[in-house]
Amino acid sequence: MIQLINPYNNHPLTEKDGGYADDTGAFFPKIEGAVRFVKDDNYTENFGFQWNTFQKTQIDSLQSNHTQSKDRLFAVTGWDKISLKGVDVLEVGSGAGRFSQVVLDNTDANLYSLDYSNAVSANYRNNGHHGDRFKLFQASIYEMPFPDNSFDKVFCFGVLQHTPDFKKSVKCLIDKAKPGGEVLLDFYPVKGWFSTINAKYIFRPFTKRMSHPKLLRLIDKNANWLMKLHYFFHKIGVGKIANRFLPVVDITRTLPSNLSKQQLRELVVLDTFDMFSPEHDHPQPIARVAKWCNEFNLDVKFAGLVTYGDNFRVAVVKGIKR
Ligand SMILES: C[S@@+](CC[C@H](N)C(=O)[O-])C[C@H]1O[C@@H](n2cnc3c(N)ncnc32)[C@H](O)[C@@H]1O
Repeated sequence: MIQLINPYNNHPLTEKDGGYADDTGAFFPKIEGAVRFVKDDNYTENFGFQWNTFQKTQIDSLQSNHTQSKDRLFAVTGWDKISLKGVDVLEVGSGAGRFSQVVLDNTDANLYSLDYSNAVSANYRNNGHHGDRFKLFQASIYEMPFPDNSFDKVFCFGVLQHTPDFKKSVKCLIDKAKPGGEVLLDFYPVKGWFSTINAKYIFRPFTKRMSHPKLLRLIDKNANWLMKLHYFFHKIGVGKIANRFLPVVDITRTLPSNLSKQQLRELVVLDTFDMFSPEHDHPQPIARVAKWCNEFNLDVKFAGLVTYGDNFRVAVVKGIKR
C-alpha cells in the first residue's frame, strides 16, 4: 500500500470525510471514484471533454474485434499476469482507462492511475468495478500524491508529447519508481523536420483555441468526405504524401482494418479531435528521450519502435531505475 501525500507540502494524507486530509487541514475530496488534487480548468480540459464524450470508444472489452489496447500494452511492456501479483503499478495520463482496464483485467497488480483532466470520471465509470485494487487520482504529473521511490512499475503511454515540458515529465515519472523498479514510456516520436509538415501542425494554432464542442461538431460534419478522400488517395498510390495534408487522422496507417463502418467512423472522429485539440504537442526523437532517461537515473534497456496489432508502431523507451 502506497502512503498518499499532499503533493504541495509532502505531508502524509489520511482518509477523512469522503476524501483525504493532512495535518494542516488541507482536504482533497474523492468525487466519482477519484481523489481530486486539481480543478478541471487546466490545459487538459480538451482531454476531459474528449474522454467523457468518447468514454467507451477505445475500450477493448466494450468493442467487438478490438484488442488494440491489450496488444499495445503487452507488446510494449512484455509483462505477464503471474509476475504482477501484489506489484504496485503507477499509470500516468490514464485518459478513459483503456490501459487501466487491460492491467486490471489481465494481471493481479495494484493499479494507481492518474490524469490531470476530468477523464478520471470516465475511467471510473469504465473500471470502478475493480474495487480496492484500483485507485484513481486527478493530479498532475508534476505534482503527484505519492512519495518518490514508491512504485515497482511506472508506465505512461501516449501522454508525454502532450505535457508542456517533456524532459521534466520524464524526470517526475522516474522519481516515483523504486530503485530496481521498471519505467516504461511510449510516445509520438519525431523523425525530422518533415514530421511537422502536415495538416496537424498547419491547423493546430487555430483548432486548439476553438471551443471543444464546436471543434468536435466541425470534425464530425466533415468526417465522411475526408475519409473518402483519404481512401481514394491511398488507392491511387499517392496516400503517403497527399494524406499528410488532409485534416483527418492517418486512417490506413493508425487504425485497425477489421472494424465495422460505425466503429471506424467513431475512431476517426475521436483521433482527429485528439490531434487538433490539445494545448501541447511536442513529439521528441527516441534517442533524446533515452538520453534524458539515462540522465535521470534510468538504466535504459530498450529504446526504439515496438510493433503491435495490424503492424502499428509506437516509440518506446524503457528501463530499470538505478
Ligand atoms: C492522448 S491522451 C492518452 C490517454 C491514455 N493514456 C490512452 O492512451 O488512452 C493524453 C492524456 O494525458 C493527460 N495529461 C496531459 N498532461 C498531463 C499532466 N500534466 N499530468 C497528468 N496527465 C496529463 C491528458 O489529460 C490525457 O488524458
